[in-house]
Amino acid sequence: MNRLSNIKTRLTELGQEHLLRFYDELDDKGKDNLLSQLEGLDYSVLDIDGSELPRGKFEPLGAMTTEQINADRERLTEIGLDAIRQGKVGAVLLAGGQGSRLGFDKPKGMFNIGVDRQLYIFECLINNLLDVVKQAGAFVPLFVMTSRLNDKDTREFFESHDYFGYDKNYIDFFVQEQLPAVDVDGRLLLSAKDTVACAPNGNGGWYISMRKSGIFHRIKHSKKLEWLNVFAVDNVLQKMADPCFIGAVIDSRRTCGAKVVSKASPDEKVGVLCLEDGRPSIVEYYEMTEEMRTRLDKDGRLAYNYGVILNYLFSIKELDKAFDISLPVHRAFKQVNYIDDSGELVRPETPNAFKFETLVLDMIKLQKSCLAFEVVREQEFAPVKNKTGIDSVDSARELLRKNGIKI
Ligand code: UTP
Repeated sequence: MNRLSNIKTRLTELGQEHLLRFYDELDDKGKDNLLSQLEGLDYSVLDIDGSELPRGKFEPLGAMTTEQINADRERLTEIGLDAIRQGKVGAVLLAGGQGSRLGFDKPKGMFNIGVDRQLYIFECLINNLLDVVKQAGAFVPLFVMTSRLNDKDTREFFESHDYFGYDKNYIDFFVQEQLPAVDVDGRLLLSAKDTVACAPNGNGGWYISMRKSGIFHRIKHSKKLEWLNVFAVDNVLQKMADPCFIGAVIDSRRTCGAKVVSKASPDEKVGVLCLEDGRPSIVEYYEMTEEMRTRLDKDGRLAYNYGVILNYLFSIKELDKAFDISLPVHRAFKQVNYIDDSGELVRPETPNAFKFETLVLDMIKLQKSCLAFEVVREQEFAPVKNKTGIDSVDSARELLRKNGIKI
């Protein structure tokens, strides 16, 4: 009783007492579930109002261009392959997202992007990684981040497809944390009578979750891995553990690298790699002034030209120095399932609530230096965000075909 009254008092102070409206209907297990969750919940999200943090002084950051890369490709690739063979490179697949825009209720990697045959997104990625494994003659340890909502499905899917030909001894799964979601009136939601609606805490959660899972400790103490290539699940042309990229970052002696593509137009809605107060950083498209969007460099290219594609290489040693990194928490307006006052589950068709997310791009600011490594968009960037239109299943299929991949 004491436990309940403590929580009641707390929720009343926070204006969230509605979370207990089904409490009396629950059996003992349900009551315990709900109380435990309410006791451990991160209520700090209630203070996040969506105002963005003040930013510093932005300056353009040049990239290693495709011309420069091609001129030195063989040497850089050898450096990367050597690092892979020595077991210095691991890959982190960010697969904890909910893919709400795609409207697919399974993990996005389980989506069949094939047309005449089955070709799952996970399969595409593993195929690309296997190309590197063949080239290097060595496996790249792969760490797959899932969320509590999709962990079971993801593991079972890999298992039932025999890890798409990858050696399962080189694959580890870990689960990211979650944060409660809040509706437009600032009320926390229930996803069941005994469960507060929570969502994965954003792709920036990978580092802390990897630490909490013990994996980071293990790889640090194995003293083998030196680099982690972090990448998104939803780019079907994603080239991870790309030897040339790895070689270029090692050769440049920077502490991190980011694959980038030239912007399609000054107004393209993409985050751009730049400098902020002298450190590498990413400026979001909506943070750029008209002058920044259209400024040209001495060669007549856009000065803020290089859009990020969520494929980064981090030095493990550098990451480890920032043990307790705290990233800003952003609000994202998305669809969140909830139960209404009659206890019925509602699956909204349009965004109805705020999720709270940390972003991997905010980790770039914590790095001393970053190599922007330009890749050809049509060869390496086919995001699957939406059902149709821009960055959709259709556009990704077209790009797969263009790259000679049978679908
Ligand atoms: P997005 O930012 O596109 O989010 O993810 P999403 O949840 O997949 O899709 P929408 O916005 O709901 O439609 C970019 C990458 O970050 C991963 C995704 O799996 C994808 O690889 N991600 C995102 C996570 O791993 N965890 C998260 O909490 C969010």
